[in-house]
Amino acid sequence: MTIFKDMPQWQSFRKSLTGTLGFVPTMGALHDGHLLLVKESLLQNDKTVVSIYVNPTQFNNKSDLKTYPSSLESDIEKLKAIGVTALLTPTYEQMYPDKYCYKVTESDFSSTLCGSHRLGHFDGVLTVVLKLLLITQADRAYFGEKDYQQLQLIRGMVEAFFIKTKIIPIKTIREADGLAMSSRNKKLTKEQRKLAAQLFEQISKTQSSEQTKLSLRKLGFKLDYLEEHFNRRFVAASLGDVRLIDNVEL
Ligand code: PAF
Repeated sequence: MTIFKDMPQWQSFRKSLTGTLGFVPTMGALHDGHLLLVKESLLQNDKTVVSIYVNPTQFNNKSDLKTYPSSLESDIEKLKAIGVTALLTPTYEQMYPDKYCYKVTESDFSSTLCGSHRLGHFDGVLTVVLKLLLITQADRAYFGEKDYQQLQLIRGMVEAFFIKTKIIPIKTIREADGLAMSSRNKKLTKEQRKLAAQLFEQISKTQSSEQTKLSLRKLGFKLDYLEEHFNRRFVAASLGDVRLIDNVEL
């Protein structure tokens, strides 16, 4: 696996790659959910590139950015072991030569759900994903359904800007007790981790949203939202400082 910190170097290497290229963008602290996206890309493409970049423009909260988990050395080992072709680890200067003067804004769905609680979050996500898709020139890019709103917005952006990369959705991967895998789970205390499984359990129950909200609050979750759209139930809730999101098909 070749590691590229320098994007012009990657871009000239990219020109030498033959066959199809799959791309998995990540912010690192890789867990089995990420690895499943990577494995799917390895199956469907001749080559696979992964990026690890903790994108500051999508964090609306400085302390969340500062405490975002990182495990670069073990991430590299995991990616090497499964046969990834290249890893991109760009710096802010590489990703934002414009200092974020240019950005992608979606003006409808992005202001609901997570967008209404994390101002500017999806501008940051869409902008960095557009940059990464243009840098990688991938045939396919893989995104988890856990971040369903993100997935929908990326699909819309790719269509709006005539980007040739095919967006491949991958089902949410869960721990044995149902908690959706997330890098943020590492920030939960032992007690919070036990309680966190209730998020999936409660939203999966065939009860009204109002009842689910009451149950979650009673259990100690601080709710940002619990809403139903596209025949799915979406939730964002915090345990202490750790914000968790999930969604289930109704
Ligand atoms: O889902 C994520 O990890 C991030 O939002 C992404 C897509 C890598 C963009 O920074």
